[in-house]
This record gives sequence, C-alpha cells and structure tokens, in this order.
Amino acid sequence: MHKNKITIVIPLLLAVLSPIFSVQANCVETSAQSNSLWIPPLLTGTTFNLSLMPSAKNFLTGKATQTIAYNCNEFLGPTLLMNKDQTVTLHVTNQLPETTTTHWHGLHLPAEMDGGPMQLIEPGATWSPSFKVTNHAATYWYHPHMHENTMAQLNQGAAGLIIIKDTDEAKLALPRTYGVDDIPLVMTSRSFSSDNALKTKTIYGDYMLTNGVINAEVTLPAQVIRLRLLNTEVERAYNLGFKDNRSFYVIATDGGLVTKPVAVKRLLMSPGERYEVLLNLTADKVGNTLDLQAFNGGQTFGFPGGEAAQTGTFGSLLNNKTFNVLHITVGKLKAPAIKKVPTKLVNTTYLKATDATNTRTLAITDFGPGTPFTFDNDAYDMATINHQVKLNSTEKWTISNGRTFGHAFHIHDVQFSIVSRSSGAIPEYEKGWKDTFFIRPNEKVSFVAKFADYASTEHAFMYHCHMANHEDEGLMGQFLVIP
Ligand code: C2O
Ligand code: CU
Repeated sequence: MHKNKITIVIPLLLAVLSPIFSVQANCVETSAQSNSLWIPPLLTGTTFNLSLMPSAKNFLTGKATQTIAYNCNEFLGPTLLMNKDQTVTLHVTNQLPETTTTHWHGLHLPAEMDGGPMQLIEPGATWSPSFKVTNHAATYWYHPHMHENTMAQLNQGAAGLIIIKDTDEAKLALPRTYGVDDIPLVMTSRSFSSDNALKTKTIYGDYMLTNGVINAEVTLPAQVIRLRLLNTEVERAYNLGFKDNRSFYVIATDGGLVTKPVAVKRLLMSPGERYEVLLNLTADKVGNTLDLQAFNGGQTFGFPGGEAAQTGTFGSLLNNKTFNVLHITVGKLKAPAIKKVPTKLVNTTYLKATDATNTRTLAITDFGPGTPFTFDNDAYDMATINHQVKLNSTEKWTISNGRTFGHAFHIHDVQFSIVSRSSGAIPEYEKGWKDTFFIRPNEKVSFVAKFADYASTEHAFMYHCHMANHEDEGLMGQFLVIP
C-alpha cells in the first residue's frame, strides 16, 4: 500500500463503506510516545474477530506514523489464545482499501483454511475459516500472505501471535501468567522518513521495534520468566543473547515444547521462527538491569543484517551492529512465581531420517547479484502445482542453498524435524518441532515431515522463504496433499 494511493482511494471508499470507516476512525486515537513494552491484548474463547484496518502510532516524538493493525491496535494485533482439540472460528474483516489474506503460521489445518495467497479477503469482506486446533502447545502467529504484497502489509504492522495450550503443557511448572511472567516478544525493525512515515519498502529497519516499541523497556519480577520470541522481520536474523552473557533456556521450538530445557547463550532466529525461552531472574536483586540483545555485530555477508551498508536498499543503521532488543529492570516477586527451571518437559518422539518413505529436493537458485531468488529456477506461479505429496506419507525434503545469501525456509501444513545440516551439527536447541529454519549460503538442510489428516486435489499449501521480499519476488512454491 502506498501513501499516495490511500489518499485517493480512501475518500472514494468512504462513500461506499462509510459504516466501516467511521468505526475505524474511532480507533485512531494514538497514545503518547513511550518506551515501555506494550503487551498485545489477549483474546480467548473459540470465536475470534479480527479486523485489519488503517491505524497510527507515535513511534517517535512528533507526528504519528500511519500503520495498519488488527482490532484498533496501533501496530500488530491481539494475541489469540487457543486450546488444543477445540474447534475455533475466526472472522477476519478487511477494512483496508486493498486486498489481503490472513495466514495462521505453523498451524496444521485444511489448506482452504490456511489463509494462503489464494484465500483473498477483498476490501470490506469478511473471511471466516473454522478448524480444529491440533498443534501442540507453543507459540504461533498470523500475518498477511498476499502475493507480491506481503512485505508491504507486514512492514505496516499486520501481524499477531497465537498461543496454543494443551494438557501436557498445563501439567508443567512453567510461568504462564500472560504479561506478568509469560511475555510475548514480537521483534522487528522499521525505518521512518523525515515526516515519521513508515518506509513500506524497508528491508532492514533502522529502529528495533519490540512489540512495536522503540528502545523497549520492561520491569520483570525476580522469578523465572518465559519469553515467547518471534522474529517478524522482513529479512534480518537475530543472534540473540544477554549482554551479561548469562545462559537462558529454550523450552519450545516453533511447534511444541522440547523434551528438556536447552541452555544457550546465543540463539539464532531468522524471520518466521519462534522460540520460547526461560530467563531465570531468581538470583537478580530488585533494581538490577539486564539487556536482551541481538549480537549481529561482526556477522559476515550471507547473515541477513550482517551487511555493512547503512543506506541504500539493503542498508540500515542496525546492520552489522549489536543492538538492544529489550531493557529489563528486575522487580519484586509476583505470585504465583516459578522459582526454578524444570529439568524435564514433554515426551515426544521426533521423526528421523529413516522414517521417510519418499524424498524430495528443492534448490534455492538465482542468476547472480540483483536477480530474484527462485526454487529450481522457477518463480512462484499461482497456476502451477510444484509438488504433490500423498496423504499420510512421511517424506524427507532436502533444501540446498546457492552461494549468494542465507534464507529462512518455511513450509505450511506440517511441523518437521531437522535431520541434517551440511554445515555441521544441528544445534541442540533446533531439535524440536519446527516449521521454519535458517539456511546458510551453500548449505544443505534436510527435514522429515508427515503429511497427515488434510488432503485436497484443489487447495494447495505453500513453501517459501520467509524473508518477505524474497517471497514476494517469487521464492515460493506450492504443493497438494492428495488422497
Ligand atoms: Cu509465515 Cu507462508 O508464512
Ligand atoms: Cu530468502
């Protein structure tokens, strides 16, 4: 969406859609600029109403920035809390003057409910998918998947979290009071022009935004804290860690809890990936401060955001820098407090290479600097089904990357296990259910997935690079799961 287009289109649409636009006009009462961490409101139940609409936020002092957001928020959307085995219905209304879609990233569901590039929501229309929640307890998310326009809509603020709970998670002594010791962190960066307008074509932002807040700070109680981390960048990856180099503990990957917490000092997250981690503040004194940072300084070319340039298409003030993601002040205990990191989590048997009965390969290709990335030299084409997978089959997919750049491979429908990385060992923290992973230049990564439950000869699932600029340019393909 381009600003000059909005100014022309909105008055025209106002005439036709005045009821809708007068509703949203009430929403654009922006709160004052602040650095305190915003916690997205939590929606619960089995029916969810989402409405994507023009909005505004005071990111910087001075003029408010025009954004798009769900449900009268200023940037991003509410967190949807779902319970495994329940059937949910979502009503997604598009109050934008342009077409969108809403995709439930990481969820296993029928392809026609998936919100991919084919499930268009026209301006003024409502799309109402309904499905049974079958995923494990973990952190998922939703965002537009509008072919060739995903990056612009994401850049303006269209994204939100989904938290799934289940009975296995409920049995564990884990922090789970939302906004108190269970903290969502939606991480991205954006750039602004001199009049504070968002640059919708930004690939790497100049300002880190944590839950949409610049220089975000929060007070967290002196107990064990759960952080639900999501990278919603267009392209940048984060090498996350704490400034004081303390260990923290990965408890969940993209699609579920892991068998036991994995202690890490650094955690690599590319766009689309989620991790839940525990941060142990029990030994910290009230008033202590600590910083969650992206240790992106010194990264070499191929690491997204490792580029040296500060200006130009791939330039950013944060490139090749170590920068703050969240400034934390330790506060008083808040009941019910978890005081230790558990030693065991869930029992899960991950898929192994030997479980696969079929193999497939995909190569990430390009024709040299400045040319778009594609899979196997074919740019995404809505009319082409690139692969057909048999229902209930277990397959090993091997993605091989060319030598130009790193990518974030993502596939819909399934949660998989990574079974090999040609660059070396699979990091311990990646040994869990995943739907997105970082692939280095010249690397080959294999994963195993079972394509169960939902088949269709008509509706396809997508696989693509989760760097929205690459996806928009055609680094995407689609597959049918056939009965
Ligand atoms: Cu997060 Cu195909 O998307
Ligand atoms: Cu890519």
